Amino acid sequence: MKNRFAVILAAGQGTRMKSKLSKVLHPILGRSMIDYIIKGMNANSIDTKVTVVGHGAEEVMSVIGNQSEFVIQKEQLGTAHAVMKAEEILKDRNGTTIIVYGDTPLISSATFEKLFQYHESTGSTATILTTKVADPFGYGRVIRDEEGHVERIVEQKDANEEEKEVNEINTGTYCFDNQALFSALKEVGNDNAQGEYYLTDVIEILRERSCKVSAFLSEDADETIGINDRVALVQAENIMKRKINETHLLNGVTIVDPEHTYIGPDVTIEQDVTVYPGCIILGETYIETGSTIGPHTEINDCTIGKYSVIRQSVLKNSKIGNEVQIGPFAHIRPDNNLGDKVKVGNFVELKKAEIGEGTKVPHLSYIGDANLGSGINIGCGAITVNYDGVDKHVTNIGDNAFIGCNVNLIAPVTVEKGAFVAAGSTINRDVPEDALAIGRARQTNKDGYANKMKQKK
Ligand code: UD1
Ligand code: CA
Repeated sequence: MKNRFAVILAAGQGTRMKSKLSKVLHPILGRSMIDYIIKGMNANSIDTKVTVVGHGAEEVMSVIGNQSEFVIQKEQLGTAHAVMKAEEILKDRNGTTIIVYGDTPLISSATFEKLFQYHESTGSTATILTTKVADPFGYGRVIRDEEGHVERIVEQKDANEEEKEVNEINTGTYCFDNQALFSALKEVGNDNAQGEYYLTDVIEILRERSCKVSAFLSEDADETIGINDRVALVQAENIMKRKINETHLLNGVTIVDPEHTYIGPDVTIEQDVTVYPGCIILGETYIETGSTIGPHTEINDCTIGKYSVIRQSVLKNSKIGNEVQIGPFAHIRPDNNLGDKVKVGNFVELKKAEIGEGTKVPHLSYIGDANLGSGINIGCGAITVNYDGVDKHVTNIGDNAFIGCNVNLIAPVTVEKGAFVAAGSTINRDVPEDALAIGRARQTNKDGYANKMKQKK
């Protein structure tokens, strides 16, 4: 196997997206397009990856991080001009360079690998990844000579009527002999309909130099969709969604309505999980066997244990134990850790809460910056008062404590284990173990008051 290098083009603005966000950062099921490409290449033994950035360079670089090296293309004068920028890093290297456009995020590492192997085994100087599509509009067409050899690529805007009929298109992914590539790039001009330096012209230049130019036809046109506007973005998301959902279905996950279930590429779901309609499950989420999710539930970056039930709720960056019940209508904000058999009921909000086994927060509560032991019952409407307007403070509640309805726990405060807090109390001092705390005004009844009022009327 030869040395392998990659150049990823991500400098364009993506005018047709009509967005402030750089095109390659638009997400598909929660993961940016550019990240699909970079991660997709991880399995292809590539020595050096160079990403060409320009529009929104800072943001693009921070998303990619140390997964790639970067070069800047200040002015976007075309795809050939963009690849030229990588010369400073790759010029002295010998081997195969794969070029991928940042707006074709669905190409799999298996396809990259097949392209590399075809290119290497045929001893080609250039190999274009092509595919056949029903509607080739907008793509570069692959023009072959009478013997079927690739002659050149012609862009939509430069094609004549006959060329426009060709339905074999350039996917924008190619393998090149690295030295031949940078040498040919120097000859590319910009005398075309868009006044741009087209990378596609390198094909004709190499042909003229009698180099071997090949095409590798991909059977799966869905993979190579190029995303220029939000219509294509939705198409790509649908393709990805179908593929991911099908994988989960075949792995033994029940997805009641796959059309309306959005599961990200980094989500793992064990068998015999049921996902009801309207769920959006993204990020690094892991769901263990037997759990039921949804309907209409959003989960991001969470771990969910076995046999838990989560209905109509929103969960972010939290760890949920086994046999936990959440919702309907709970909001689990970041950094919670819920033990087994915890119950979080309707209209409950949690943030940064550690909750022990079997503890119940069944209705209308806010629990934030809190450590709750096991076997606790939190009454309806009880809340932690964690914020004094400047700082956040912690509430601690020991095992088997009982917090009555509508209690305010003014943090920092600790309710020791086994203690009772009477309904309606406002607690700002620690409550000792097994004590009863009552912190509310004593009730007075005024006899006959109602009659007096009636007479006044
Ligand atoms: C390009 C191809 C076309 C192919 C199609 C596949 C050329 C000339 N045309 O057309 O043959 O069928 O992709 O999807 O290559 N970019 C830069 N710097 C630039 C220009 C572009 O980094 O100066 C990047 C863009 O960010 C984008 C990619 O290159 O990620 C492709 O550019 P785009 O303008 O979308 O090319 P297409 O018109 O789609
Ligand atoms: Ca494109």
